[in-house]
Amino acid sequence: MARSARQRYAEIFRDVEDLILDHINRQYTSHPNSKLNMLVPTISPFFTPLALEDAFYHQDSIRAISSRRFVAPSFNDVRLILNTAQILAMIQPKPYRFLRPKISPGLELLTFDGDVTLYEDGASLHSPESDPVILRLLHFLSQDVRIGIVTAAGYTQPKNYFDRLSGLLLAIRSSTQLTSAQKTNLIIMGGESNFLLVFDEQAEYCLRYIHRREWVLDAMKDWSEPAIQSLLDVGEAAFHSCIRTLHLQAKVLRKERAVGIYAADQSKKLTREQLEETVLVVQQMVVSSLSTRGSEQPPPHAHIPFTVFNGGADVFLDVGDKSMGVQSCQKWFGGIPPSSTLHVGDQFLSGGGNDFKARSACCCAWIANPAETVALLDEMIALGDRQRGSEG
Ligand code: IMP
Ligand code: MG
Repeated sequence: MARSARQRYAEIFRDVEDLILDHINRQYTSHPNSKLNMLVPTISPFFTPLALEDAFYHQDSIRAISSRRFVAPSFNDVRLILNTAQILAMIQPKPYRFLRPKISPGLELLTFDGDVTLYEDGASLHSPESDPVILRLLHFLSQDVRIGIVTAAGYTQPKNYFDRLSGLLLAIRSSTQLTSAQKTNLIIMGGESNFLLVFDEQAEYCLRYIHRREWVLDAMKDWSEPAIQSLLDVGEAAFHSCIRTLHLQAKVLRKERAVGIYAADQSKKLTREQLEETVLVVQQMVVSSLSTRGSEQPPPHAHIPFTVFNGGADVFLDVGDKSMGVQSCQKWFGGIPPSSTLHVGDQFLSGGGNDFKARSACCCAWIANPAETVALLDEMIALGDRQRGSEG
């Protein structure tokens, strides 16, 4: 039974792999409608093929999916198969005979979300002993892979990031394996896409703040300060309205590039339902602020993208989004293509997740906790070693 289930599942994954290849072949042509597009109208472009059949065999050997008699392949099984398929495509690409676009192989930039991806929600990276992800990040830096931490947490002061990331920053500073150039390949993009800091071994908190004029995307150049404040005003009014209608015991926090709510009394957490309702109401109120009647002028913030997301214990509206955050990292490192960039995050639900936006700028891996991030990086390191072995 297990053998026939294994064969059937593998065939299904092979079929989806072929659908994605067909989709890639069509996505930049004048007839972009692929079969996958008809089956899933909201499907995005793919930057690489996905080695789904091989990934299924790999995950089946770990999770014994086809040997289960009662529990069908689950959401988590599929999520992990997709992650493996993505890293296989980037690190050990198969030669596809029918793939038309030329995709440059290899991993050049790894971007990570912070909370729940690198550390537990609200926690920090203390030391290589307590946080095993640190040594993996150092390994990728030593391979000349660039690393961007693309987090919603938005601060201008290096100290605020140092408080969360000191274990990583100090390990990089004291490393004798990494060259100075490799060390500067760690950057932090805070507030989704608002504040850029670069590793600097001379700086007090190992980080140097980079002025916006040195890195912003062309699309961000015309965001005037009044337009940004107008967006935050609408968001702030929407949060206050949620506090009233949902009887939330919450406080509003207005920042330079964000506005949000958090529990007024830390011992009384906001419930999942309250957080999710607030996300949807704020999103809807900002969108409806953009609709105009007759000859009315659109509001000044009409052209500014924004993110509203449930951070687990709080809800924030941020100016910009992680697609712009990842693109800014790609630009900072001289123009790394989406097919050579992997974003690792935990918030990929299309309704209220801030990592979801990164999907339009690069390849993605969806993890559920920091231990899964470590497992994913170990899988990538093993694949890289095997690939180098076969080339050498
Ligand atoms: P992420 O998971 O790394 O994207 O971080 C998200 C968390 O950062 C949120 O849940 C908040 O607790 C925290 N945070 C701090 N400042 C900000 C901000 O300006 N915008 C959004 N989130 C913030
Ligand atoms: Mg997160």
